[in-house]
Amino acid sequence: MPATIVVGTQWGDEGKGKFTDLFAKEMSLVVRYQGGHNAGHTLVVDGETTALQLIPSGVLYDHVTPVIGNGVVVDPAVLIAEVDMLEAKGVDCSRLRVSGNAHLILPYHQELDVVFERHLGQNKLGTTKRGIGPAYADKAFRIGLRVQDMMDPKIFREKLAVALHEKGPLLAKVYNRLLPDIDVIADKYLHEYYPRIEPYICDAIDLVHESLDAGQHVLFEGAQATFLDLDQGTYPFVTSSNPTAGGACTGAGVGPRDIDRVVGITKAYTTRVGSGPFPAELFDEVAEHFVTVGHEFGTNTGRRRRCGWFDAVMLRHAARLNSLSEMALTKLDILDDLDTIKVCVAYEIDGNTVTSMPYHQSDFHKAKPIYEELPGWKTDISACTERHQLPTEAQDYLRLLEAQVGVPISVVGVGPGRNQFVHWNEGS
Ligand code: GDP
Ligand code: IMO
Ligand code: MG
Repeated sequence: MPATIVVGTQWGDEGKGKFTDLFAKEMSLVVRYQGGHNAGHTLVVDGETTALQLIPSGVLYDHVTPVIGNGVVVDPAVLIAEVDMLEAKGVDCSRLRVSGNAHLILPYHQELDVVFERHLGQNKLGTTKRGIGPAYADKAFRIGLRVQDMMDPKIFREKLAVALHEKGPLLAKVYNRLLPDIDVIADKYLHEYYPRIEPYICDAIDLVHESLDAGQHVLFEGAQATFLDLDQGTYPFVTSSNPTAGGACTGAGVGPRDIDRVVGITKAYTTRVGSGPFPAELFDEVAEHFVTVGHEFGTNTGRRRRCGWFDAVMLRHAARLNSLSEMALTKLDILDDLDTIKVCVAYEIDGNTVTSMPYHQSDFHKAKPIYEELPGWKTDISACTERHQLPTEAQDYLRLLEAQVGVPISVVGVGPGRNQFVHWNEGS
């Protein structure tokens, strides 16, 4: 399977980092195709935790080339800090490659993200305030600056002047914020950041296609998730890129026929950070259980994640949107202590039972979950390595999820560590 996409199927933080790291063992390239440092991907290897925001989760292997694709928005200060953090741990980052076509996050993007959220007040989106939305907006408006612009100081300054012509007055007059002078910004990007990033800049399209042509294995690592997708998610409570599998094509420069396999990383329950509808959300002691036992606090922002039961209606939709070949289920161990486990199999909307995602936002906002209930297994599964070691009730839960979603589960996470997983694949 030369080309594989890893995509989050819910609202993020499913454990994409953990499984990308695991799958990367077989890969030559691991390519991030969208998002920016709004992501927080956690890897746990030999008890040591590494949290990544921008650098692809294959970086811990010597044989993997981590690639930041054209669809990513790059804050160079964060990238440099991440390289420094990894190198301080003894991880060699010299293989890192950054597409010259990736867009840059500039200081006014972050500033605008912060003041716009403040302006929205209680209607805020709950963004990560990293400048992601404003950077993608400028890309679409064609006033963005790209990584390759730093290679030509004259072009960089010209483009920066065009952007600042609008951003300066916008921040000053609408939001009462002063921006640094063009010289200050240009100096930082051209003289402080560029020399550090220059060795990594490349034609990522060439790199990816040469690797695919040579029959090597390439993994496209999604950030965020299906229901945070700008087009397919719960708009406007979404991010500003396309995490769904199609985003790997535009964000890494490959065509749909290059892709062999799409793995949907799926948490055994549901979480969400930030605002927006969430039909299966819980506010009781089970939610508290998920937060405390599952450590459901943002890897990146530290925010408490909202928690609820597994939502099979959403997963059926995610299976369609991403043409999932399989699910990799994470955090099954977090259900270990529960007496009963519920799965949302349908919604009740205005007295009607609905089994597919309603397209109208108002219907989704008022959707009430209809649950199927199973007994828990009340057993510690964190040391299981073979599928037959999983308690019968846990196996029944996995079979119910597969039947409800219509997609096989290939692998199940039973703990955060790289080796804490069980191959499930009953059919194989
Ligand atoms: P990502 O953004 O999708 O990469 O996910 P995050 O790293 O933000 O959040 C997932 C969290 O769950 C991290 O702390 C992981 O170490 C942890 N994790 C991943 N898989 C498992 C699992 O199977 N069991 C447990 N207990 N933790 C897991
Ligand atoms: P990973 O890759 C969970 C959410 C934010 C907010 C919305 C928009 O770790 O799964 P943004 O800053 O992107 O404009 O915020 O998207 N969000 C995430 N939630 N995991 C993430 O990334 C997220 N990245 C953004 O909380 O609701
Ligand atoms: Mg995360």
